[in-house]
Amino acid sequence: MKWSTFSLFPLLVSFAAAAPAAPGWRFDLKEERSGIVALEAIVVSPTLVVFFDRASDDPLQINNHSAWGALWNLETSTVKPLDVLTNSFCASGALLSNGTMASVGGDPRSFPGNPDIENGLQGLRIFEPCASPTGDGCTLFEDPATLHLLESRWYPSSIRIFDGSLLIIGGTHVNENFYNLHPANSFEFFPRKEDTPRPSAFLERSLPANLFPRAFALPDGKVFMVANNQSIIYDIEANTERILPDLPNNVRVTNPIDGSAILLPLSPPDFIPEVLVCGGTATDPIDPLLLSSQTPATTQCSRITLTEEGIAKGWEVEHMLEPRTMPELVHLPNGQVLIANGARSGFAALHQVADPIGNSNADHAVLVPSLYTPDAPLGQRISNAGMPSSGIARVYHSSITLTPQGNFLIAGSNPNGNTTVGPGIKFPSEFRVQTLDPPFMFVERPKILNTPAKLAFNKKFTVPISLPSNLARPGAKVQVSLMDLGFSSHAFHSSARLVFMDATISRDQKSLTFTTPPNGRVFPPGPATVFLTIDDVTSEGAWVMVGSGNSPPTLE
Ligand SMILES: *[C@@H]1O[C@H](CO)[C@@H](O)[C@H](O)[C@H]1NC(C)=O
Ligand SMILES: *[C@@H]1O[C@H](CO)[C@@H](O)[C@H](O)[C@H]1NC(C)=O
Ligand SMILES: *[C@@H]1O[C@H](CO)[C@@H](O)[C@H](O)[C@H]1NC(C)=O
Ligand SMILES: *[C@@H]1O[C@H](CO)[C@@H](O)[C@H](O)[C@H]1NC(C)=O
Repeated sequence: MKWSTFSLFPLLVSFAAAAPAAPGWRFDLKEERSGIVALEAIVVSPTLVVFFDRASDDPLQINNHSAWGALWNLETSTVKPLDVLTNSFCASGALLSNGTMASVGGDPRSFPGNPDIENGLQGLRIFEPCASPTGDGCTLFEDPATLHLLESRWYPSSIRIFDGSLLIIGGTHVNENFYNLHPANSFEFFPRKEDTPRPSAFLERSLPANLFPRAFALPDGKVFMVANNQSIIYDIEANTERILPDLPNNVRVTNPIDGSAILLPLSPPDFIPEVLVCGGTATDPIDPLLLSSQTPATTQCSRITLTEEGIAKGWEVEHMLEPRTMPELVHLPNGQVLIANGARSGFAALHQVADPIGNSNADHAVLVPSLYTPDAPLGQRISNAGMPSSGIARVYHSSITLTPQGNFLIAGSNPNGNTTVGPGIKFPSEFRVQTLDPPFMFVERPKILNTPAKLAFNKKFTVPISLPSNLARPGAKVQVSLMDLGFSSHAFHSSARLVFMDATISRDQKSLTFTTPPNGRVFPPGPATVFLTIDDVTSEGAWVMVGSGNSPPTLE
């Protein structure tokens, strides 16, 4: 009795010390570096991410010169160079309905000492579906003489639309010094639908800060766009635009005054589209010498529902926890949105404001991400509770993407004219790669054991799953998301999309039945990742082809 009384206290103490902490969010710094500045990133297979940089003096070498493309292996966290012909600096891209990745537009310049660079302004870089988990034998195809854009485009956006092809939006004809003064105020398609680009009154109106327009394919096949402080819905089939209300409070959100935007998750049965636009700066687009690296960014997020009623109501305003220029908005499979990266003050681009920090037009990097919960009440949607600091500034020319593993890959940052590293540089060229790992990475997760390679539209599929015992309970919250992971470039994720699917788990907890979206307007045909989330614990994603896998244009 006496013995047990004495021992009880130390026993409790040691038990308390050994109790596992509830898992939280963590940044994980990888040993291997990216070798090029990963200013563009797109997941192209379950294990591979394509990175692009400016063609310059990056340390990663290929054929005895600096590389500006690379394949990052998500399984081994290692990089290998990719041979690129044209300069992919400040391009866009997306996956097509047949699984091929197309990178579009870029920069005309060569670089002293790097002999193999061709003009990328009309660049079209093709990466065919790669079956090798390590990318062996997978290469880019370019033939600038026969395969190129109709118009020169530096800083364009591109999104996959309802027929699986790309709508390519805007950009500029030359290397601009801050604003878009030589604009490509037009749209075109890849593959081509017409012999000439379509002029855009919207792009005309949104000058001079309309680079990398933020655009989303809506579930009726039309396209929402926001650039500068203007927004429209573009009807591709009728070639008409409908003007929507301006963003409130003089806030502007496209390069070089970068905020970001995201299409919030679409849910059956009505798939009502809502757009969220966060960050940027409340300023008139004035002479950059009158702007400062210390000009505060905005905390403003603006949200609109794209129904007649929602458009009549206009933008609803809420606020982030801190001001952010160049924020990144990225879907989580459970429908929340990660707000990461960027800076509290200044602007995008290099060395144009009156007082750059080195070459950076921005200052005061934001290191702690936040989460946005779309269905929480206004004013209570944004939190950074439990979020760690990344410790690494990710300002201009950084990228982030959700991975099929369910975490976020974060790389890049380079507000400099070339590769600049070393002591005394506040915002150097950044080659360190991190993941941001959600809490569910550290617990037992649900598993989707198998999926058909192709998911046709408007069909029910039943797939085998396994669930950890604590999640296999009646009444658990089950979410099945069909996601395009997007193409990350310049604080925007082109084509990023989350469509929830109606789903049930069998009584024996061994299979999952879900219903695919009705058509390619709700989810443009092409590669997708399916995640199963139970009570906010998300499985690894299953890589599938939505639709026929036919080359674009295709309506199935
Ligand atoms: C690279 O340079 C080395 C030494 O100059 C040479 O031996 C080699 O053939 C070169 N490789 C290529 C692919 O040009
Ligand atoms: C949008 O920008 C234009 C041009 O700078 C300006 O005239 C207009 O007032 C702005 N709209 C709002 C709502 O601030
Ligand atoms: C990189 O830029 C710095 C200054 O911006 C310059 O001094 C240096 O020569 C450049 N390096 C190369 C290889 O061009
Ligand atoms: C996919 O379509 C694009 C555009 O037509 C084409 O360039 C590419 O070769 C196609 N890929 C496959 C695998 O068919």
